[in-house]
Amino acid sequence: MRGWDAERVAREAGARLVAPASAGPGDRGPQRVVIDSRDAGPGDLFVGLPGVHADGGTFAAAALAAGAWGALASPEHAAAASGTAPGALLAAPDPLAALQRLATAWRQELGCAVIGITGSTGKTSTKDILRGMLEPYRRVVATEQNLNTEIGLPLTILGAPAGTEVLVLEMAMRGGGQIAELAAIARPDVGVVVNIGPVHLELLGSIEAIARTKAELLGALPAGGTAVVPAGEALLDPYARGDVITVTFGPGGDVDTLPERLTLPFDSAHMRLNALAALAAARAIGVEPAGAVRVALSRMRGQRIELGRDIVVINDCYNANPMSMRAALDDLAETARARRVAVLGDMLELGSQERTFHAQLGRHARTAGVELLVTVGPLAQAAAEAFGAGATALAGAADAARALPGLLRDGDTVLVKASRGVGLEVVAEALADAPGVQAERA
Ligand SMILES: Nc1ncnc2c1ncn2[C@@H]1O[C@H](COP(=O)(O)OP(=O)(O)O)[C@@H](O)[C@H]1O
Ligand SMILES: [Mg+2]
Repeated sequence: MRGWDAERVAREAGARLVAPASAGPGDRGPQRVVIDSRDAGPGDLFVGLPGVHADGGTFAAAALAAGAWGALASPEHAAAASGTAPGALLAAPDPLAALQRLATAWRQELGCAVIGITGSTGKTSTKDILRGMLEPYRRVVATEQNLNTEIGLPLTILGAPAGTEVLVLEMAMRGGGQIAELAAIARPDVGVVVNIGPVHLELLGSIEAIARTKAELLGALPAGGTAVVPAGEALLDPYARGDVITVTFGPGGDVDTLPERLTLPFDSAHMRLNALAALAAARAIGVEPAGAVRVALSRMRGQRIELGRDIVVINDCYNANPMSMRAALDDLAETARARRVAVLGDMLELGSQERTFHAQLGRHARTAGVELLVTVGPLAQAAAEAFGAGATALAGAADAARALPGLLRDGDTVLVKASRGVGLEVVAEALADAPGVQAERA
């Protein structure tokens, strides 16, 4: 919010200015917002949010003492911090709402294009690819890592410097109404729904209910905005709008091929699909990307590690659901040089049909040509049973980490994937450390 003085910041946040900024007429406003007082320093506006264990507002004085431009907290905490150190002090009864209001105001001030990305799987990857496509042409600010919630999203917006031309925002949900809330803060011109799949099924009850939550992004677009949706996704049909431009991506869609002059640092089918969605979004704001797209994919999302003895580990331990498991197995089938090995752990939060989903997973592993399947966890055991001969069911990640090095042969390609809660990265680590299969030095 460079250029906004304390009075303006308070007004936009709907907060009361308790103490003026010491900087006076030379005040150039805060540069970014932080919610952890330990990160606060010169140029920062610290916002004290109430949390589960502690109320961030109690650290308002500490943030000011650390030289922060200012602090925003509930009236009690603002009063307690008043006079302790120089800096602006703002009071609002609901600091989170104030943070969100401020983000909307700053987004309006920037007047930039805003692209929102939601979907069941592939949001972060699509966001990272889109950032890479736009960066050579526009000043872009995109969500860092996974800061995709009602807190992370406003922080991303508020961190955008003046002159930002495009905001690329990942939007996640854990329930109905949450995407609408994020969209109300960010006011996107372009909304991308990467896909609809059985993720958070336990929470939402049905695939139709999941589609409804993703479609909140489409409902929030202004007239004349652009909706980017998967080609042939009938679940989104009820939400089609006559007053927005709809662009479909994927086989049979409006954007179904990547231009030849565009090169990407990966070639798995699902990443290419994400790239098509990103391409459609880039075009929606008038950018035609070309050349080598620089993408820094976030960690543990299909990272390939070359070990000794021609063994390759695909570390995809970041998370798993039926959709991403299927995509990862297809990728394994396509890229393995010799034997296909899959170490697959539980997929969590699938609700009453969890056994069915795991049995399907086992059958899909069989069709994908997996020869050795190691399942990890009580749910994944159903995958081992459906797979039949060649499957070993283990109880936990530590067991798999112990067993795996001894099960591998030269030339194996090993997919390691499970829900985050399983912690299956210990298997990838154990393999990288195992004598005789150590990662080759670059
Ligand atoms: N379009 C897609 N379809 C299926 N699986 C995907 C897709 N994109 C990414 N994945 C897989 O899902 C995992 C999570 O990807 P990520 O981009 O972090 O998604 P999200 O942000 O939606 O959680 C990746 O490790 C990858 O295996
Ligand atoms: Mg994500």
